[in-house]
Amino acid sequence: MTKFITLFKPHRKKHEKGLDPALIKKGLGNRIAGRNIHHYPVADSTNTIAAGLAKKGAEEGTVVLADVQTAGRGRLGREWISASGKNLLFSIIFRPDIKQSELFSVTMIASIAIVKAIRKTLHLKAGIKWPNDIYINGKKAAGILTELELKGDLVDFVVVGIGLNVNFDTSIYPDISDTATSLLKEKGHEISRIILIKSILREVEKWYRALKKGKKEGIRKQWLKHSIVTDRKVKIISSGNEEEGIACSIDDDGALIIVDEKGNSKRILSGDVTLRFND
Ligand code: BTN
Repeated sequence: MTKFITLFKPHRKKHEKGLDPALIKKGLGNRIAGRNIHHYPVADSTNTIAAGLAKKGAEEGTVVLADVQTAGRGRLGREWISASGKNLLFSIIFRPDIKQSELFSVTMIASIAIVKAIRKTLHLKAGIKWPNDIYINGKKAAGILTELELKGDLVDFVVVGIGLNVNFDTSIYPDISDTATSLLKEKGHEISRIILIKSILREVEKWYRALKKGKKEGIRKQWLKHSIVTDRKVKIISSGNEEEGIACSIDDDGALIIVDEKGNSKRILSGDVTLRFND
């Protein structure tokens, strides 16, 4: 007699329907992250739409989600490349009680949340590459774009935009094929975007609550635990300048602290990091 065994593979979803907000909210259990979810089949940029909603008073935790973006933005004025219905492209509005100089702590929360969600749901070893990229096996799987609006000296709202390559074939895009990866590529099968975004939103909720309670040191520790840059030899291109050294830590403002070969310590505020493997 032949026995048919059905293997339960919760993340192997070939025909998942779109990113229905009702499905994302179902059983989510969050009070902040994802309390309102706006889904757009096509958006210019979810960050732009989220900022518009925030200016009209949208509550913190509101999520703007798109299947495709016509003007997806990356850091340093770059374009964010994606394919329709394949990835996670979303922005979250926050209204944290922080100074502008503490903005990096909000980016840190998003980085930690993405890494933890990928590790928990897919058992992939994701890590954080300063300042705000998520890497798997030496390639970029996700990027974060954090933007803020000030009211006088105070932070009015922050929009954290997340672009995560899920079921995306990066090999057909020459601009990113060498440097980017996707969860599909790393796992070898399609991934449920619903399960993944739920997991990310749960982690965002947990770490944002920690931030609200002032647990900045705990957040910093988690970030450092998952950092793939610290204690490594790095080369950083920052506003046309090249800096080399050992990445030691990050300071409270999110600047990367490197020590060069003469033992001088330098603060790097922004830039692109290359990890040096051979020397
Ligand atoms: C980067 O790595 O340069 C950051 C990329 C951030 C992309 C996301 S996709 C959703 C949100 N909307 C945007 O226009 N950008 C962010």
